[in-house]
Amino acid sequence: MRIFLGVTGASGALYGARSLAALTAAGHHVGLCVSDAGARVISHEILGEGPRPASYADVVARFADMFGNPEGAVDVLDADDIACSFASGSSGARAALVAPCSTSTLGRIAHGTGDNLIHRVAEVMLKERGRLVVMPRETPVSLIQLRNMVAITEAGGVVLPAAPGFYAMPQSIDDLVDFVVGKALDVLGIEHALFARWGQPHVATAEDAR
Ligand SMILES: Cc1cc2nc3c(=O)[nH]c(=O)nc-3n(C[C@H](O)[C@H](O)[C@H](O)COP(=O)(O)O)c2cc1C
Repeated sequence: MRIFLGVTGASGALYGARSLAALTAAGHHVGLCVSDAGARVISHEILGEGPRPASYADVVARFADMFGNPEGAVDVLDADDIACSFASGSSGARAALVAPCSTSTLGRIAHGTGDNLIHRVAEVMLKERGRLVVMPRETPVSLIQLRNMVAITEAGGVVLPAAPGFYAMPQSIDDLVDFVVGKALDVLGIEHALFARWGQPHVATAEDAR
């Protein structure tokens, strides 16, 4: 399946990283779009190089190389490229995940006032009645942010907060992140083995070994 993955400037770039790894490992073709702020957070949280990278393109290319596997499974899309295929309902793509989703992008999507490719793809998913999952990471949340979540839900999107469960006895940060990513893939109808399902044994996959 062709799936769009937007990575925005909320903390939790690892959610985007693990989403990219899981989707590509499962054989899906991912259109990856990182916002300008998303690249800053990746630079800070994943690359350990602080939130003011010299080059947006370099950060995004390294992120795609680190987590997109195999080669060729990822199309890196510029956040300004609203002329790319995913920007049109006629592209046929019907699944998009924004992980993590900043409250700023949340507001843009909720109000249909986008100005980058991530906002546009989310708008397309809602109008075409495709699957849109947004994964906000913020706490506490204001009434404005709560209303934006309601608006996206009313429009048919799924708001899936980056709120890991602990009942699967996580042993690592990756386990915590994979719990949330796995819930997002469940909503998108994508098979995975990112966490042990309650009452069922965990099925090991190649992704576990990475
Ligand atoms: C290191 C860092 C961490 C941030 N963490 C969050 C966060 O957890 N949630 C959030 O909504 N915004 C967070 N922000 C602020 C967003 O990056 C900012 O609102 C930005 O305009 C979002 O733009 P985007 O939605 O286009 O990515 C953070 C920014 C930085 C630099």
